[in-house]
Amino acid sequence: MTKRAQANAIELQPSVGWGQGRGRIAIAGAGARIVVDAHIPSYRRLGVDIDLIFDPDPERLRLAAAAVERTGGTTRAIYDREAFLTALRDMNPDLMDVAVPSPMHTAFLSGLFDDLGKDCPSLLVQKPLAEDSVAARGLVARAHDLDVRMLMQMNGRWVPTFRELRDAVRSGTLGDIQVVEVLNRGLNPKTSDDWRSHIDRLIGYEMAIHHVDLLIWMFGLPDWVFAVYRRVPGFVVKADNFAVMTMGFDESLVANVVEDWTCRVKDAWHLHPSGEHFIVSATRGTAFATPHEQTITTDGETWRYTSEMPWFPDAFGGPMEEALTALRESRASDIDSTDHVALLNVLDCLYRSASERKVVTVT
Ligand SMILES: NC(=O)c1ccc[n+]([C@@H]2O[C@H](COP(=O)([O-])OP(=O)(O)OC[C@H]3O[C@@H](n4cnc5c(N)ncnc54)[C@H](O)[C@@H]3O)[C@@H](O)[C@H]2O)c1
Repeated sequence: MTKRAQANAIELQPSVGWGQGRGRIAIAGAGARIVVDAHIPSYRRLGVDIDLIFDPDPERLRLAAAAVERTGGTTRAIYDREAFLTALRDMNPDLMDVAVPSPMHTAFLSGLFDDLGKDCPSLLVQKPLAEDSVAARGLVARAHDLDVRMLMQMNGRWVPTFRELRDAVRSGTLGDIQVVEVLNRGLNPKTSDDWRSHIDRLIGYEMAIHHVDLLIWMFGLPDWVFAVYRRVPGFVVKADNFAVMTMGFDESLVANVVEDWTCRVKDAWHLHPSGEHFIVSATRGTAFATPHEQTITTDGETWRYTSEMPWFPDAFGGPMEEALTALRESRASDIDSTDHVALLNVLDCLYRSASERKVVTVT
């Protein structure tokens, strides 16, 4: 028996009232590719206003302003930091989106806390919050002291097939989960003018972070980890572009994650953001999910669920809506930055395992 379901989009409801003084957004690092391609269209689909954008690069800023205008909106675009901080104080937005390059997160957010103090607005920050869990913990503590809410843009959790997979795992349909495989393989070279080419931790902190986050979201924190990170030569990057990570959860579950940005054979690709694989093997069934399809087969039945919703840009709206709603309802959220520190701690344990060549217990 085959059951099919299809989703074209997650329900993102333009929320009544946000255009009347709620859901007013500022964006820092507004010229970022990801902001122009994914954040701006997603905010506008949610019906919120992007009243203020900041980027020190005037040309990038112009591209961001044009992207807002393409959606029928208007915005105030500022490239001078002091003028931006003054405008931010006057505007008092519901949320500020932070999309500056990852290596600048700690300095940018610390500067914001120093200069704005308790006037700092609530923040929705791109992953990773900081360059390691120690720096992230410091930022979370400062935000807490200032009473500033800081949430994370963990959009993988809003890919419909991965949400379905989590539901299947948690419903018990599959029985006891034994093994999970995650595969993200393809060619993803960088150029020398990309900041990613110069950071110390590349594939773990910029890419695997999504897949490790999904595993933790589905199965909880791992007890132990073992990893190998490699820089396959031939590409301009300074850091890792290939990783094999193994994680143990509870007593019996083992997850293996392969992240490969060096595969030149196109026939072998299963590449983010549309092609990565999740395979869950359990006592009563197997689940296989990509960002567009999920199949569950038990002894005798097969369920198939397909989604035409692309990870970029559609899934980005999920954390935006969640952040705005959590703020409006003054409730906690599972994308609060406190939990993100635990994710970065797991990534740090993985890197420690690779450098010490041993299994590391996650504490
Ligand atoms: N799926 C995802 O969740 C996803 C995908 C891509 C990128 N990202 C994250 O988004 C962030 C941005 O990545 P990108 O590739 O789009 O970046 P990018 O290099 O395209 O853009 C960064 C922008 O920040 C601006 N900037 C630099 N310094 C600044 C400062 N001090 N203050 C304000 N703006 C500053 C730059 O001028 C540039 O316009 C990173 O943290 C990255 O990890 C997340």
